[in-house]
Amino acid sequence: AHNNLNAKLVLLGDMGTGKSSLVIRFVKGQFLEFQESTIGAAFFSQTVAVNNATVKFEIWDTAGQERYHSLAPMYYRGAAAAIIVYDITSMDSFARAKKWVQELQKQGNPNMVMALAGNKSDLEDKRKVTAEEARVYADENGLFFMETSAKTAVNVNDMFYEIAKRLPRA
Ligand code: GTP
Ligand code: MG
Repeated sequence: AHNNLNAKLVLLGDMGTGKSSLVIRFVKGQFLEFQESTIGAAFFSQTVAVNNATVKFEIWDTAGQERYHSLAPMYYRGAAAAIIVYDITSMDSFARAKKWVQELQKQGNPNMVMALAGNKSDLEDKRKVTAEEARVYADENGLFFMETSAKTAVNVNDMFYEIAKRLPRA
């Protein structure tokens, strides 16, 4: 039915920020302390219900290691949504997230729903990136912003649900 939508979603961000952990939390409800670094990319799918519709996310979880950077366009091309992930305990990862946003603004689908996820919000005592600076950046660039924790599950389902609500309807 026309109320059912398939949406390609890509996760981008520095290695170790928790992209795979966020997806596994969302799709399987699990968390691993020793999640293995992704090689190339991994595919998942998960369906969410919003209002009278369902959105089936087709999720590409990309590898953050720099040597895989050249593969990224294959995954964000044609994507309806992107989650750019940084780690709140790493200023470098926030800088890297901004680079991904710039790349998507130049090369990505102009109607893409973009979310900025400040992950590892459970590590408050090691925080380096304030929520305020990330929110200001997100507002200036038209991104939807949330702090998340794949470990405790805080805001993980909510983030995907908020993206589903923002997708343009056919
Ligand atoms: P690449 O695949 O190399 O790009 O990394 P990634 O972004 O997929 O990170 P991954 O999910 O593999 O997580 C890296 C490490 O951070 C793992 O040891 C996870 O257990 C840990 N981790 C992920 N999310 C969280 C979180 O929300 N809180 C805490 N405390 N640790 C997390
Ligand atoms: Mg990974």
